[in-house]
Amino acid sequence: MSFDDIFDASYDRVLLASPDNTDFFEAFYQRFLSSSPEVRMLFRNTDMSVQRSMLKKSFFSLVAFYASGTIDDVLRRIAYLHSSRELNIKPYLYDLWLECLTDTVRVYDPEFCDEVELAWRLILSPGITYMKFGYDHF
Ligand code: HEM
Repeated sequence: MSFDDIFDASYDRVLLASPDNTDFFEAFYQRFLSSSPEVRMLFRNTDMSVQRSMLKKSFFSLVAFYASGTIDDVLRRIAYLHSSRELNIKPYLYDLWLECLTDTVRVYDPEFCDEVELAWRLILSPGITYMKFGYDHF
């Protein structure tokens, strides 16, 4: 199985799982917010249910970038919004974001293993690299 297929199958599984009636993206944000006071401060005025659905939609653009090598308008806009000109999201926070995401996959995917973790990291890496690069390139 390719890493693409491993990621797709894992993504389907995590979306189906809802331990404690908490869905995957909700659990991810709970983890991300508790990981650092800096993150909590950045989201202090945010409606987290809106935020969850936005991340879920933008996930498609992150994954599509891995597959196509092409940056779509959605991803470009998100990168601009997170850059030093707007939200000023420091590049190191993306590493924390990815750690929290893979830690959430570990809990939500009953078939979690090293290959699954690597698939998530590989597939999200180009998009994250683009977001970090965009920090001071808009
Ligand atoms: C690749 C990783 C990420 C993706 C795909 C992503 C996606 C998004 C999206 C789609 C939005 C909503 C944009 C809109 O208003 O139209 C958003 C807003 C935001 N993101 Fe991210 N994000 C990422 C990483 C991060 C990181 C690492 C932080 C650091 C804490 C962060 C902090 C925020 C904040 C503070 C907002 C604004 C919330 C508000 O409107 O109150 N994001 N993000």
